[in-house]
Amino acid sequence: MNGLQVLGTGRCLPGRRVTNEDFARTLDTSDEWIAGRTGIRQRYFCAEGETAASLATVAARRALDDADISPADVGVCIAATFTADRRTPALACEVQAALGLPETALCLDVNAACTGFVTALETARCLLLGGQMAGPYALVLGAEKISSLLDFSDRSTCVLFGDGAGAAVVRLDAQAPWAAVFGTRGDGQVLHGGGPDDPFLAMDGRAVFRFAVETVPRCIRAVLEKAGLTLGEVDRLVLHQANSRIIHGIARKLDEDPARFYENMQRYGNTSAASIPIALDEMRRDGQLLPGQTVLCAGFGAGLTWGGVLLRA
Ligand code: UT7
Repeated sequence: MNGLQVLGTGRCLPGRRVTNEDFARTLDTSDEWIAGRTGIRQRYFCAEGETAASLATVAARRALDDADISPADVGVCIAATFTADRRTPALACEVQAALGLPETALCLDVNAACTGFVTALETARCLLLGGQMAGPYALVLGAEKISSLLDFSDRSTCVLFGDGAGAAVVRLDAQAPWAAVFGTRGDGQVLHGGGPDDPFLAMDGRAVFRFAVETVPRCIRAVLEKAGLTLGEVDRLVLHQANSRIIHGIARKLDEDPARFYENMQRYGNTSAASIPIALDEMRRDGQLLPGQTVLCAGFGAGLTWGGVLLRA
């Protein structure tokens, strides 16, 4: 079915750990509110000198080491991010230089916010399938320095996010199941930031919550239908890690046990495009993702955008 097989993963979290109690010292908030409404208990922010590129480079190097492939065989490098350190060059080009990926590699960034990593996976798959890439492997990253867009006096946003990077080395696998479903509902009012008039992230949290619980179950069902699989035939479900209550709401709509959905927002907050690859790396290194297993990944977020894909571990 020409799906993607994951050969290796890596992650990198920055050095400054901030707990809910730390926030409660400077903001009118509490661990009870943040953990109760979101599941989040702590997150990591970049310390002095740490950048989206530095996190991405470490995560990518770990993924290449884990896959045990030579950087020379990477044909595609895609970084999903909405918080690259600068507009140009692309984060993926910085990773190419830092890791010594070949000059023949196609390198580009994808900005689909929290849907970025699944969008990058489908982009990489299509490029590999096209047969024009110089190497058989794709290095797909999600890397964010969201702290650069946070208003640390706004309790309704700053407690939700974190910085981090995750990466996966993938290749085409003729036997791996594949289906991809995407959607866009352009609405810059619900979730936006980083522009001349809105330097900080701003959102209507309730609207994002409703949007996610409405669209993601439909997206997951559509992926399964395309692939001819049932939910029971999928081994692992890895959704974007925005809020534990969103994941539980989605599980309820699918009539599925929430325990089958991986959760790690407790430790990292919402790291946008990095959240799914960070989760994949944790699972792989903890023995929770076994070779040959089928994984369904789904993201949702600013745009508004959503998307779901399958992977073979
Ligand atoms: O990747 C996608 C990015 N977006 C998201 O992940 C956001 C999705 N939405 C959510 O996760 C939830 O809507 C939130 C966690 C943002 C908010 O939870 P909620 O249950 O929808 O709360 P709310 O927005 O209805 O706010 C309830 C109250 C408000 O006070 P009033 O108006 O009822 O007096 C807020 O001012 O909670 C207040 N509040 C806080 N209180 C303590 C908002 N932020 C905080 C805070 N600490 N940090």
